Amino acid sequence: MALVTMKEILQHAEKNTYAVGAYAGSDLISAIAAIKAAEETKTPIILLEEFSLVFDDDISLELHFAAINAMAEAAHVPVATVLDHGVSYEDCVRAIRLGCTSVMYDGSSLPMEENIRITKAVVEAAHPAGVSVEAEIGHVGGDEGGATASGAEVDESQYSTPEEAVYFAEQTGVDALAVAIGTVHGTFKGTPKLDINRLQEIKKAVGTLPLVLHGGSGLSVEQFRLAIANGINKINIFTSSERAGALSAKKLLDNEGEYLVTFDQIARDAIPDMQKDVMRHIEMFQTPSIMNF
Ligand code: 13P
Repeated sequence: MALVTMKEILQHAEKNTYAVGAYAGSDLISAIAAIKAAEETKTPIILLEEFSLVFDDDISLELHFAAINAMAEAAHVPVATVLDHGVSYEDCVRAIRLGCTSVMYDGSSLPMEENIRITKAVVEAAHPAGVSVEAEIGHVGGDEGGATASGAEVDESQYSTPEEAVYFAEQTGVDALAVAIGTVHGTFKGTPKLDINRLQEIKKAVGTLPLVLHGGSGLSVEQFRLAIANGINKINIFTSSERAGALSAKKLLDNEGEYLVTFDQIARDAIPDMQKDVMRHIEMFQTPSIMNF
């Protein structure tokens, strides 16, 4: 169908109280699996592009984004690409130049005013180019781009507040805001618990601004649906589908016989399992089919 912006997808989701998943897309196998899942369910999809997970030389980056953009253009559903966790203004500008339709600037570890200053500069560079911007307040911790077996602990002192959310949104003009309400990146230590009261207050404060939940892997269907009913419109999933691919590779290697497993087999075999995991999340989120738009 088309490469679209995150803003186009999220505005419709916000208006109609549903969420769209954002899935790993920093390697082509993951991106293929996610787009196949979206096409099979006829739902929009967002691909997460994280520079630290793509080969970081210029030529590899150019080739990666050329391939991702071509795949998105050829897809039968709306696909948005978003630079995930851009760590600097320069990273975001680089992503815009590479054709990302959206960027996330992550200044969540910085003091508030510094986060606002850089996010605002990113918005000023992105909006004239038709690119939408996500930022984060509070801080979702944990293991980005790789999970520890022991899991990460939630730090309640890093949760977002409604006052900060509304101030940040007004100062920066972002198109979506990631909030910390009880998730971590990677696996959880213990059972995850979401602060839904806090989410309700944040949503009330920011009005129609779409809210984003990072660290979605490992939540229950009830938690996802409660978060969506109370204002979350984008949910980031990385660990779950990437583990599905890794476990598929393990199964193949564990059952190796006279014929040795080769990497092309690992990559090919991982796609259906990763696709299934993305579809499982689409089902849990109840993302509506584009046929119902
Ligand atoms: P998980 O790896 O916990 O699913 O988090 C993904 C994420 O938030 C990427 O930004």
